[in-house]
Amino acid sequence: MDYVLDQKTGLKLPNHLAIILDGNGRWAKAKGRPRSYGHLIGCSNLEKMCNIIGDRGIRYLTVYAFSTENWKRSAEEVGFLMNLFRQYLKRLLRSARKRNMRIRLIGDRTGLPSDIQEIIRILESETASNDSMVFQIALNYGGRDEIERAVTRLAEDARLGKLPEGRITSEIFSSYLDTDGIPDPDLLIRTSGELRISNFLLWQLAYTEFYFTEVPWPAFSEEDLDRAVEAFNGRDRRYGGV
Ligand code: IPE
Ligand code: IPE
Ligand code: MG
Repeated sequence: MDYVLDQKTGLKLPNHLAIILDGNGRWAKAKGRPRSYGHLIGCSNLEKMCNIIGDRGIRYLTVYAFSTENWKRSAEEVGFLMNLFRQYLKRLLRSARKRNMRIRLIGDRTGLPSDIQEIIRILESETASNDSMVFQIALNYGGRDEIERAVTRLAEDARLGKLPEGRITSEIFSSYLDTDGIPDPDLLIRTSGELRISNFLLWQLAYTEFYFTEVPWPAFSEEDLDRAVEAFNGRDRRYGGV
């Protein structure tokens, strides 16, 4: 399989794009507004950019929206974010139907409020056979937590004799991760200047190209996406990819 070419620029598109949505708070602060305003605008920018990314022809999009560490923020901020996710996920069902988009949530959903778990269950089951694009949202996600949960299930299956004899291959291990069946990301974008991965997709990013930009997430635009794709085209990939 070859990379899909972008109709607009002729550049090859990553098959799977992952984004660490960062900088909402700093963006708002620079405008003299509360952090919650940054999250609100960050959320509407996600709706806009998800449509743009799908229209361009990128097949898989994964975004980091809330980490296992983010619970340590103030109760007020965490409460605001949960409410935002609640509203956002409800709206997403409509747009996913309209755009024939499949939605998957990665992360430990059992740690989320029960009504959000119910919305997730509906979103995933109602969009399971949609095939224009796969949109994964990482909520209460941590790479180490995902690996811990995977290894726990794998050990249990081994104990029950459900695994083939011999070596546990990377294919077997990958199938226990939340991202089972999804190809690894080709390109990771992190907005807002931090040069770290903050516990995102630790296993899956093994051969992913990284692109960092100073632009904070609420201000990230289609032109910024073009810049990232252009940088991706200049990379000489040795492993991974399609
Ligand atoms: C990203 O923006 C959104 C979440 C992590 C929920 P931040 O809230 O991390 O904003 P900064 O990094 O503090 O500016
Ligand atoms: C990473 O951003 C997590 C998300 C974007 C959801 P953070 O802002 O939480 O990460 P750190 O604290 O800067 O590493
Ligand atoms: Mg941040």
